[in-house]
Amino acid sequence: MRTDLSGRTALVTGASSGFGRHFCQLLARSGAEVIAAARRTDLLDSLVADIAAEGGKAQALRLDVADESQVVEALSGLEALDIVVNNAGIAGPSRAIDCEGDEWRSIFDVNVNGAFYVSREAARIMRKAGRGGSIINIASITGLRTAHSAAAYAPSKAAVIHMTKSLAMEWARFGIRVNAIAPGYIETDLNREFLLSPAGEDMKKRIPQRRFGEIADLDGPLLLLASDASAYMTGSVLAVDGGHLASPL
Ligand SMILES: NC(=O)c1ccc[n+]([C@@H]2O[C@H](COP(=O)([O-])OP(=O)(O)OC[C@H]3O[C@@H](n4cnc5c(N)ncnc54)[C@H](OP(=O)(O)O)[C@@H]3O)[C@@H](O)[C@H]2O)c1
Repeated sequence: MRTDLSGRTALVTGASSGFGRHFCQLLARSGAEVIAAARRTDLLDSLVADIAAEGGKAQALRLDVADESQVVEALSGLEALDIVVNNAGIAGPSRAIDCEGDEWRSIFDVNVNGAFYVSREAARIMRKAGRGGSIINIASITGLRTAHSAAAYAPSKAAVIHMTKSLAMEWARFGIRVNAIAPGYIETDLNREFLLSPAGEDMKKRIPQRRFGEIADLDGPLLLLASDASAYMTGSVLAVDGGHLASPL
């Protein structure tokens, strides 16, 4: 398998917690030099120290992905970029009837607009360097099916999935592959309260594997998409959900 990432530079957004923190460690262990981006720099600094203690290479980047000018400025300093994981994301608790414009806009600003700004700037760097690249968008199974109380979140992830395909189509000519991972329910700060509630327990019964995911369940798909092992994959969406999408109606 061609999953060695030595000599590659990888940018991970939303790196301060949850999936993003784990992805940085995984990519560094696979040989990549990691740029860990998020707003909480104290958490990024401790991540960078943990990676260095294991012999890996990482640097912290303070970045609010929803701020276009900040994204442009932060990425303008990079000469080479091979892998981008658009992982920064937020959720909101509302049903559509209660969802105010501020909640809708802030979720789209981070989940959709942020992923677009980062992808566009990364693609400009990759095209200039002329050695292609891999962009991985962290979507969600809620972008493929509906979910309760996810009025803005589920549509934002559907937009991420369609954006993945549009960018894949446009950037194939530059050797830039764009794919998405659609995780099912995996316990992190984003959803812990819900997953541990009685409603969360009910949901678990509808997952064919009868368990929520663990972050490590994403390791195989992430390394596949980040590396040359997926050289002929672009515009793909990989569901990692214990069979949740295949559950019966
Ligand atoms: N957990 C699940 O079951 C699940 C399932 C499907 C999809 N996902 C997706 O997976 C991704 C990671 O979620 P998670 O579960 O790991 O949640 P998490 O622990 O809450 O992590 C979210 C990350 O996004 C960052 N972030 C939020 N707003 C940002 C902004 N404006 N600019 C830059 N970074 C920002 C946060 O860092 P700062 O606050 O430090 O900026 C944090 O590191 C999200 O896109 C989420 O939608 C999660």
